[in-house]
Amino acid sequence: MRSITITLLVLGLVSLALAQYDYADVIRRSLLFYEAQRTGVLPANNRVPWRGNSFVTDRGVNGENLSGGYFDAGDHVKFGFPFASAMTMLAWGMLDSRAGYERAGQWSFAIDALRWGTDYMIRIHPSANELYVQVGNGREDHAFWGRPEQWTGSNPRPALRATPALPATEVACETAAALAAASMVFRNNGETAYANTLLNHAIQLYNFGNTFRGRYSDSFPEIQEFYNSWSGFEDELFYSAAWMYRATGNAQYRTDYNNFWHQFGMSTRPLEISWDDKQAAGQILLAKIDGSHQFVSAAQAFCDWVVLQAPRTPRNLVFISPWGSLRHASNVAFGCLQLAQAGINAIPYRNFARQQIDYMLGSTGRSFVVGFGVNPPQRPHHTSSSCPNMPAPCDWSHFHAPGPNPQTLHGALVGGPDINDNWADNRDDYVTNEVAIDYNAAFQGALAEIVRLL
Ligand SMILES: *[C@@H]1O[C@H](CO)[C@@H](O)[C@H](O)[C@H]1NC(C)=O
Repeated sequence: MRSITITLLVLGLVSLALAQYDYADVIRRSLLFYEAQRTGVLPANNRVPWRGNSFVTDRGVNGENLSGGYFDAGDHVKFGFPFASAMTMLAWGMLDSRAGYERAGQWSFAIDALRWGTDYMIRIHPSANELYVQVGNGREDHAFWGRPEQWTGSNPRPALRATPALPATEVACETAAALAAASMVFRNNGETAYANTLLNHAIQLYNFGNTFRGRYSDSFPEIQEFYNSWSGFEDELFYSAAWMYRATGNAQYRTDYNNFWHQFGMSTRPLEISWDDKQAAGQILLAKIDGSHQFVSAAQAFCDWVVLQAPRTPRNLVFISPWGSLRHASNVAFGCLQLAQAGINAIPYRNFARQQIDYMLGSTGRSFVVGFGVNPPQRPHHTSSSCPNMPAPCDWSHFHAPGPNPQTLHGALVGGPDINDNWADNRDDYVTNEVAIDYNAAFQGALAEIVRLL
């Protein structure tokens, strides 16, 4: 008995010695980042001292209370599509790498972060075929630099509502996927009633998106310059059917994803995992939960391409796309960790993911996570953290100020370098130095899986 204990202890120490960075601490900070992105009436246990209540008057066309949820990025708009994708990724990581969160002592904070998103999803879905896909106007918001608590623009802000006449299949289906994934997280957490509520919303939203098909960026053209749906809604139909099957076990959803697989050509090799493109994520999820050869071989082809063939920077960052290069790298790292967890090419995929995450944490000599490690970013493109302490005013002069952001936006992963590893800490560069709830989601999930494996 004693020798077993000692052996386990030694193995534990060996694996800790292999931990190059304090991954658990990065999870902790990443959850603080989500907390800094909260909007609405903040709870008394808010841990971000420079944030307060904001946009408490957000409301729907029929007066529904739409306060709450998360700011998208450095701005204050609640963009429903990347929000839903971020919540699906967060929930996926919590579902399949819970032990990593627990080891890091962060499970209850992760639950709070997810619940902050799912509570808002319930509010934006006031009836079966009605979903608010955005609150706030991108142009108006981007003309404002300052504290969200001191917003001076339209009040209440405009809210975009999808209906059968104005369909938004991508957003409805991605929101269904997030709610389905989250329902499993809360069910495993012993919250059966809440899980059932989330799943009922998911069932309705999947039906809404599937029955009234249309691209949300056609229904709401103002979104095109922000989060246009380039890949269409086919990938979200496919992906959400997979999540609905996982959450319900209802064979109709399996029939649906198999049909979508053929109808929409989902077996081809995608080029990324992103808020827009869910094809690879769907292949990977189905390789795990369905296990049919077609899904396994497509998912493996994607990860083999990522690991062996996709472009790399000289210092080995996989380079999928310039805008938010690190988010693209952490998205594929997360996806391939999921496949590894299913026993597919586990060692090379895990080594790859670790190398990518280590790049973000400091392997090139600097950290790309605000508040963490050596020489971290100090000037993220992010309004509220660029403001001095109250009651000093905050405006565009703080956007242009040369110094570091006065507030530390702990845990935020910045956009990242170009294909030659060049990166500058410029607040005005939203391609390389913005932060987003979408950037941190799969990143945090990858960290949780790494901690689980240590
Ligand atoms: C909207 O909901 C939030 C959270 O429940 C609450 O604190 C706030 O008072 C509500 N606002 C209105 C106008 O009812």
